[in-house]
Amino acid sequence: MPRSIEETQALFDRWAPTYADDVRRAGGPLDGYAESLREAAGLLPLAPGARVLDVGIGAGGLAALLAERGARVWGVDPSERMLAECRRAHPDFALAVGAFTPIPHPAGQFDAVVSSFAFHEVAPAARAGAGAEIARVLAPGGRVCLLDIIFASPAATAAARRLLADRWDPDEDYPLVGDLDAALRAAGFAGLRWRQTAPCHWVVAGRKA
Ligand SMILES: C[S@@+](CC[C@H](N)C(=O)[O-])C[C@H]1O[C@@H](n2cnc3c(N)ncnc32)[C@H](O)[C@@H]1O
Repeated sequence: MPRSIEETQALFDRWAPTYADDVRRAGGPLDGYAESLREAAGLLPLAPGARVLDVGIGAGGLAALLAERGARVWGVDPSERMLAECRRAHPDFALAVGAFTPIPHPAGQFDAVVSSFAFHEVAPAARAGAGAEIARVLAPGGRVCLLDIIFASPAATAAARRLLADRWDPDEDYPLVGDLDAALRAAGFAGLRWRQTAPCHWVVAGRKA
C-alpha cells in the first residue's frame, strides 16, 4: 500500500543521519547507486553558473556532482532532517522544504531540474502533474534529468521483484519507462533519451520544448 506523505517524511527523517553512508553500500533496488548518479550527472549539459534544482535532494548526492561542474544548486525535499544533512555537507546549496507537487518555486527559474531516486515517491496518479511542475519551473529550453528505480515493463518489474525477494519493498510503486516517457512528453519535454544505468535504474534526460 502506498505511504502517506507524513509516513514518507517520518521514514526519511529517521533514515537521514545514516542515509549518505547506507545508500552507497545498499543492495536491493538501490544496487549501483553511486555509478548511476555519476552516469546521470554526465547526461546533463551544463553552462557555468547554471541554475539547477534537485527535487527530493536528500543528502545532496547528485547535486554535489553537478556543483563540482559549476552548477548553482537549489534543492527541495519534504524531510527536514534530510535537508539538515544536506545543509551540513553543502552549506552553499539553497534548500527548502517541498515536494514535486507543487514545487515551491516560481515559474521559469531554473536551467535544469534533476532528481535521483525520488520520483517514485510521487503517487502514480500525481506523476503527470509532477512532470508539469518540472516544466513550469524551467526556463525555455531548460533541461530535465530524472534517475530512479524504473522498469522497462511490468514483466521486468515482476522479474526484479522475484529476484530481490525480501529486499523488495512492497510499499513502493516504481514507474515504467513508457508511462514516464508519456508523462514527460505530455508536459512539453522533447529530445528524451533513456539509459539503463543498473539492473533496477533508468535515467531519462531531455529539454523543455
Ligand atoms: C531515496 S531518497 C533519494 C535522495 C537523493 N536524491 C539521492 O539520490 O540520494 C528519496 C528522497 O525523496 C524525498 N521525497 C519523498 N517524497 C517526495 C516527494 N513527493 N517529492 C519530492 N521528494 C520526495 C525523500 O524525503 C528523500 O529525501
